Amino acid sequence: MSSEIKTFDVLVLEGDGIGPEVAAEALKVLKIAGEAAGLQFQFDYGLVGGIAIDKEGLPVSRETVQKARNADAIILGAVGGPEWDDLPTLQRPEQGLLGLRVTLDLFANLRPARVFDPLADASTLKREVVSGIDLLVVRELVSDLYFGEPRGFRTTEEGREAFNTMRYSEREINRVAKVAFDAAMRRNKKVTSVDKANVLEVSGLWREVVCEVAREYPDVEVDHQYVDNCAMQLIRNPAQFDVILTGNMFGDILSDEAAMLTGSIGMLPSASLGGSSALYEPVHGSAPDIAGQGKANPLATILSIAMLLEITCRNAEAADRVRRAVEAVLNDSYRTEDIMSDGGKLVSCSRMGDLVAEAVRSG
Ligand code: IPM
Ligand code: MG
Repeated sequence: MSSEIKTFDVLVLEGDGIGPEVAAEALKVLKIAGEAAGLQFQFDYGLVGGIAIDKEGLPVSRETVQKARNADAIILGAVGGPEWDDLPTLQRPEQGLLGLRVTLDLFANLRPARVFDPLADASTLKREVVSGIDLLVVRELVSDLYFGEPRGFRTTEEGREAFNTMRYSEREINRVAKVAFDAAMRRNKKVTSVDKANVLEVSGLWREVVCEVAREYPDVEVDHQYVDNCAMQLIRNPAQFDVILTGNMFGDILSDEAAMLTGSIGMLPSASLGGSSALYEPVHGSAPDIAGQGKANPLATILSIAMLLEITCRNAEAADRVRRAVEAVLNDSYRTEDIMSDGGKLVSCSRMGDLVAEAVRSG
C-alpha cells in the first residue's frame, strides 16, 4: 500500500526581497500539513528573478524552466527590486516569472480574496463593507498586453514612441472563461466578466466568447462590467461579487484592489493553472523596503500552500486545516506589522509561520 503513495515534486523558487522569508514559512506549514495528511513531498530549489540574473545571467534559466515543467507544483516567493530597475523591460527580474507562466502555459490565475473576520477592522474600508467578503478573481495570465506583439520603441518624426499590443484569441478567452464558470459552479454560481467593451475591440470579442461559454452553464448567473465600473464596485459593494473573470492587464490591477479588502495585500494567495504543473505564489511583490527585517507577512504564501494542497494534492481537508490554522492564529490576535491593529500582538514573519505550523499540528 505505502509504495503506492504518490510523492509530489515541489520546486521552490524563493526569488527576491521578502520572497525567501515568506517561502520559508510556507514550507514549514506545508511539511507539517503534509505529515498530518499522510502526503509526501520531494523538494527541489531553483533561482528566479533578480537573484537568477546575478547568479545565472538570466531571470530564469532553461534548467529552472525544465525543473518547473517536471514539478507537480512550484512555490514562488516574489521577484524584483531596485537593484534591477534600470534594466530594459525584457531583461528585468519580472521576466523570470512571466517566462515561467507563459512557457508552462499557466493561463488561469486564481486569486481568492476572503476577509477573515478578525481582520475586518484591518481593512481601510468599513467593517460592514468588507465583512464576510469571499470572492475569487480569475485572471487570464499568458496573453493580453503583457505578451502581445508587436511591442517596442521607435522614433518617428514627432519624437519617441512606445507601443504594446492588446490581443486575445477566441481560444484563449474560451479556456479561461471555462475555468471561471467551473469555479462558480463550486461556489455561489455567479460570474462577473470584466472588460472595456465600450471602447476596445478585444473586449468586444471577450464579451461575445464569455456569453457563448455562459450558455453551457445555465445554472450560473453572469453579468458584465466595464473595468472602471468594476474598480468602483469593488470598494463600493464588494459583497456583490462571487467570481470575477477578466484579462491579464485588468486582472493585475483589480486583484491588488481586491487584496485591500482583506486588510492587506499580505493576505492574498494565488494559484496559476493550466499546464501540467501549477504555480503557487502570494499576490504581493518582493517589498524590498522591508526585506530581511522579519517584518513580512507570510500568510499570503501560507494560504497559497492551502491552494496547493487542495488543487495539486486534491486534499481539501488538508487545505482547510491550513486555513483554519491561519484563522485561529488571527483569532488569537497575532499580527504582522501590515495587519496590526489595537490589541494585536505583533509578531515577526518567522514567528507567524511557527504559530500557524503549531496550529496546523494541533488540528
Ligand atoms: C502579479 C505581479 C506580476 C504581474 C509582476 C511581478 C510581473 O504584479 O503577479 O500580479 O504583473 O503579473
Ligand atoms: Mg500584480
